[in-house]
Amino acid sequence: MLPGCADDTCPKANPTPRLAVKVPIVWVLGGPGSGKGTQCGKIVAKYDFVHLSTGDLLRNEVASETQRGRELQHIMDRGELVPNDVVIELLKEAIVKNLQKAKGFLIDGYPREKHQGILFEQKIGPVTCILFFETSDETLAYRLRNRARKSFRSDDNVNIIQRRIKTFNAEKDLILDQYSAKVKKIDAEKSVDEVFADVQRHLDVLVD
Ligand code: AP5
Repeated sequence: MLPGCADDTCPKANPTPRLAVKVPIVWVLGGPGSGKGTQCGKIVAKYDFVHLSTGDLLRNEVASETQRGRELQHIMDRGELVPNDVVIELLKEAIVKNLQKAKGFLIDGYPREKHQGILFEQKIGPVTCILFFETSDETLAYRLRNRARKSFRSDDNVNIIQRRIKTFNAEKDLILDQYSAKVKKIDAEKSVDEVFADVQRHLDVLVD
């Protein structure tokens, strides 16, 4: 760490300029199983935004079977967060690849803790709007247990589901407080279509 810097969000540690993103950047947040991926699919179909899920980017890295991939797998299988520098680099790379053609970016599952948000805005650009899907822990666990019957995700098992929920609950309030002006809370206990109706109310104003 550089002298005078307390952590990796220090501006001196991030001298590179931000990307020139000229389209809306939407962070999609909520607990594990709150419906982030489901709603992102519907958003892409209607708005044609580029959908980048940090969980998917990390699982691709795991599938590459490198040493780094194996280390990430261990962290994800404990239901913990992988290091910030790994996630931001994967995201930045994916955004750069899509910068010319994107009508908007949906960043699904990021930030998971408040420093990730600061890093993103330093290295990539300011967030436009934050969709936050609210659900009870019981609903999260119920949906993930159901999905586990047909999913091949190694973290969709009873013990890890509880740890993922715990990790989410430990960090969410700090993120919500930090971005309160941009957060749109959505009741995600409702049906998929009802949730999407609320999502559209917030996104329609961002597009022409
Ligand atoms: P990630 O892949 O992001 O998983 P997650 O946050 O646990 O969320 P899920 O993908 O499991 O659920 P979802 O909210 O997308 O719900 P879905 O639509 O699938 O992260 C995995 C791991 O990677 C993390 O634990 C961490 O280790 C690491 N990681 C990821 N991002 C990171 C970051 N930024 N920093 C550090 N580490 C990171 O829906 C779930 C189920 O519910 C489905 O079966 C669906 O059909 C159903 N469903 C959806 N909506 C509804 C509804 N309204 N009513 C009824 N059923 C519904």
